[in-house]
Amino acid sequence: MKVVLIGGGGREHALALKLQQSSQVDEIVAIPGGSGMRGAAESLPVTWSNAEELADIIEKQQPDLVIVGNEAPLVQGIVDVLTARGIAAFGPTKAAARIESSKVFAKELMKKYDIPTAGFASFTHPARAKTYLVRKPSPFVIKADGLAQGKGVIIAKDNADAQAAIDVMLRDRKFGNAGSRIIIEEFMEGREVSLLAFVDGETVVPLIPAQDYKRLGDNNEGPNTGGMGSIAPVSMSDEEYQAAVERILKPTARALVAEGCPFRGVLYAGLMLTADGPKVVEFNCRFGDPEAQVLLPLMENDLGEVLQQIMDGHLADVQLRWRDGAAVCVVLASFGYPQQVYKGDRIKGLDKVSAYPDVHLCHAATRLIDDVYCTDGGRVLNVVAVRESIAAAKNAAYDALGKIEFEGMQYRADIADDELERLAR
Ligand code: AMP
Ligand code: GLY
Repeated sequence: MKVVLIGGGGREHALALKLQQSSQVDEIVAIPGGSGMRGAAESLPVTWSNAEELADIIEKQQPDLVIVGNEAPLVQGIVDVLTARGIAAFGPTKAAARIESSKVFAKELMKKYDIPTAGFASFTHPARAKTYLVRKPSPFVIKADGLAQGKGVIIAKDNADAQAAIDVMLRDRKFGNAGSRIIIEEFMEGREVSLLAFVDGETVVPLIPAQDYKRLGDNNEGPNTGGMGSIAPVSMSDEEYQAAVERILKPTARALVAEGCPFRGVLYAGLMLTADGPKVVEFNCRFGDPEAQVLLPLMENDLGEVLQQIMDGHLADVQLRWRDGAAVCVVLASFGYPQQVYKGDRIKGLDKVSAYPDVHLCHAATRLIDDVYCTDGGRVLNVVAVRESIAAAKNAAYDALGKIEFEGMQYRADIADDELERLAR
């Protein structure tokens, strides 16, 4: 079949590499894709401003299946538009994608269906929000309702910081309309795990747990980013895993059916493993980036087959199989990320990575200039190693990335270290 893949980052490169191995897939077109996907997918570097326009571009390709990597087109309703035009598209409808696009929707849903998450209240008036703080213990978690590229969350250590955060969102509209409504949440203590699942209506098939390293600096210091690395599998007790599946993923899928917006696609639960069991930090309506980069190479199933089974309504028959071993992904980011991003720096040493048989690259933001790969955004490259253990994968990833160089290159030196400590206990 011919697959159209929407997106152009590291996650989509990982999807393209996985789909390329599928016995069901003979052609992949990535929209917009990127020059770094060369060899895995053909790229169509176009822009669009709404779902109808994107659907027009996709329709011309006459795909057998469309896979949407990133949330923006889903939230704009690309799956609804394609389905109405008779084009098979894997991903949630606009209504189901609210689980990611509106934090208020997600929180109200969890409250109504008793799905474990932090206590919260939502506000549109700064004065009411500030009055609420008085009755609550610090620290406070203040979140913009809408999509803010992972930046719409402020953890305020005390009342004064929380008041400032409320003003930034509701009064100054730092996050635009995404911040016209906010929620204030209880702070949860624990370790974060990403648990993704294939979902179709009430059927849920969970993947193995992964971990994303969200902060820019080692030891989880510095600003939040789109993700500076990832590992899979990550430690999670059987009890925690069962609780996450039975008390969170399955009830959420059932809740979306009950609300009249059944979910089909990948449901991503960002979990906090608290002393009271796993609780939801956030939901996303698609594969995680950079979680996909470590999950997909460990998955033994043919992804094209799995997606076809889901589209045919047979997700319940899918048995996921996982390779023994582990994967580690380290993100190389450009100078200035995540604030001001510098582009156009030449990347050296990419060819040397091929000397490492267990390591591959997923391009996140690169561009060929005069036949040389250059940086073209914040997160530039994902160095992914798949080996027999987390320790071996970590060593391989760092050995290989030592060969890559560009001006102002930033990366975390401690990806997987916390997991290695847990494994050593
Ligand atoms: P989100 O965009 O909702 O995933 O939030 C970004 C990050 O803020 C999360 O990955 C957590 O590290 C942190 N965070 C969000 N909500 C909470 C909470 N209620 N308690 C503690 N940390 C949180
Ligand atoms: N890794 C976080 C995300 O994909 O949103």
